[in-house]
Order: sequence, then C-alpha cells, then structure tokens
Amino acid sequence: FIDSATICGKRIKSMSKLETCHDNLRIACLSFVHNGSEYENPYKDRQRTAHSFYNQSAIDAAAAKPSIRLTPTAILYSGKSPDGSHLLRSAQYLHKELPVRIAHRIAGFRNLPFIVGCNPTILEVHELYIRAFNILSEFPLITDFETEKRYSEMLQKLLDDHKDVVSQLAAGFRECRKHIKQEELVRNFLDRTLTSRLGIRTLAEHHLASHEEKCHLLKVIDSWADFVRQISEEKYGKAPVIKCDGHVNASFPYIQIPLDYIIPELLKNAVRATVESHYDSSEASLPPVRVTIANNDMDFIIRFGFGLPTSRAYAEYLGGSLTIESMQGLGTSVYLRLRHIDGRNESFRI
Ligand code: COI
Repeated sequence: FIDSATICGKRIKSMSKLETCHDNLRIACLSFVHNGSEYENPYKDRQRTAHSFYNQSAIDAAAAKPSIRLTPTAILYSGKSPDGSHLLRSAQYLHKELPVRIAHRIAGFRNLPFIVGCNPTILEVHELYIRAFNILSEFPLITDFETEKRYSEMLQKLLDDHKDVVSQLAAGFRECRKHIKQEELVRNFLDRTLTSRLGIRTLAEHHLASHEEKCHLLKVIDSWADFVRQISEEKYGKAPVIKCDGHVNASFPYIQIPLDYIIPELLKNAVRATVESHYDSSEASLPPVRVTIANNDMDFIIRFGFGLPTSRAYAEYLGGSLTIESMQGLGTSVYLRLRHIDGRNESFRI
C-alpha cells in the first residue's frame, strides 16, 4: 500500500521492489507516498546510528538457522557440577542460541508492512534487537569463568535495556493502527515476538539465577509479601498480614522467573481486595491474606486471594493453570498449580 518511495535519491514506483524491502532499503528510504500523501521516513534521521549497528549478512545467516529449544528438564538438570562447569556449558549454549533467536525477531520486524515498520517506536525496538544481535554475536567464545562473568553482566544489561519492549510495541502499534490493514499479520507478529521474547528472557534470566541452588517457595513468597505490604502501607496507610501455611518447607528445582511475576501480582490483588473491602477497619482488624502451599510428586499449588489473566498466561506457558473460585460472603480463592520440572509429563519447550 505504498504508492512510491524515494530511495537513494531515486523515486521507486515498483511495488515488488518495496515488498522485498529489507532493513537497508528501509533506512535508505527518505520519504514515501501513501494514499496520495508524502511522508518523511522518520528513520532517515537515524541513518548513521542504524548503519553503525548493521551487520546484515550475519543477521541473515543467523536467521536461516533453526533455534534449539530445550525442555525445562534439560535446563534444570543439565548436570550441576560443584566446580561450576554447568555455568560455562549454559553460557556456551546461550552464546550460540541467542543470536539465532534474536535474528528471527529481526526478520519479523523486516517482514512487517512497510508503513508499520517505519513507525518510530517500532523502529526503536527493531534497532534494539539489531544492537542486541551485534553485542551477543560479537561476544568472544566462553571458555573460562572470568569470561562467563562478563557474559552474565552483559546479559543482565541487555535484559534491562529491553525491559520496556512490550509497552513500546503496544504504543507503536497503537500509533499506526489506522494504517494496519492486515490485522492477522500483525497479530501473528505480536504472538511470535512476545512468545519468543518470553523464551529468550526465561533462558537468560535462568542462566543468571543458576548460580543459586533450589527454589524455596516460602522464601520467594515471603520476600514478595514484604514488598506488597510495603506498597499497601504507602498507598492505604495499612496492610493485612500475609500468612503462609501448608508445606512451608517445600523446595525443589524450579525456574523462578515466572513466579517472580505471578506471585507479586496475585498478592497485590489479594491485599488490595482485602483493604478495599474493609475500608473502615484498622490495620489490626484486617483479615489476613492466607497463602497455602501444597506440594506433591506431580505439582505444587499455591492458594491466594485473587488473580490476573497475565499470570494465568504465564502459568499455562509452564504447563500449569491458574483458577479462581469466588464464593459470595466467603471471599475468593486463587489456585496456582504448576508442574514440577522432573522430566515427566513434559509438553513444552523454552
Ligand atoms: C527482550 O527482552 O526483548 C530480549 O529479547 C532479551 C534479550 C536481548 C536478552
């Protein structure tokens, strides 16, 4: 739906040329005509920065490779060695795998409809991925702990740099909603980008966390309970007690990152529901939020006061579920059920 574009000083009319447009062309394009109006390419001011990021043939080569997805068991039980060599193996896997996954994401940006791909916010994210590709693929081979430490620091920095990607993409697509004709195409792009990003971040954060031993559920819940109570004190001037019971000593290997998202979300909702439904009560007379941990061979369950759809999506991603049961007059229970990662009943890969 681009009528024509000015690329390298030439007016290009052929649609087929624009349809095959890739990043270089997108950057080189100074302006384009859409529905009879001429638009400046917002990307053109960033030509220099963008060019300095470029490494097109390396991106193409990596994008042509398949990604190697692992089962959670492979991630957790790849043989933890007391000498820490599992850290080297994990970093070496990421060193090979992440550039391929990031290159797939860049290919996704390139295949967006031209006018959508030119949106400044979407381009910003596109550039972030090109930058991440270069940083990750130029990192030297990891053969010693010193390099692994630098690799982990670099990963942490990239995770921070990319923390707003979801809201940036949401804003970008909102900005160019009126130009989007092929909704299906955009939906597929978002599905693929967000699912793949979740996998990338899970792998990277798990590597960073793998210096730790096991996941001790009570400790995870307790630390988030403190955080949520603090927010409630600031906002409402009071907070209910959060009590944990059940199998409070449960600890097992787990990928903690999704829990760090789900647990504070559920606790925030439980605390808010408790305070808002007892507005006139003093702190001491607020009913407690009760967290029950139930651990068995197959899975473990955490019962709370309330829940959120995103937490359910995370739970389902991990082969679990999040169900909410409300009984009028009695309150709301949320059951977060997550499968143990032990090699049985596995159906997903990260
Ligand atoms: C993201 O969060 O968007 C990522 O892909 C993370 C990666 C650059 C480490």
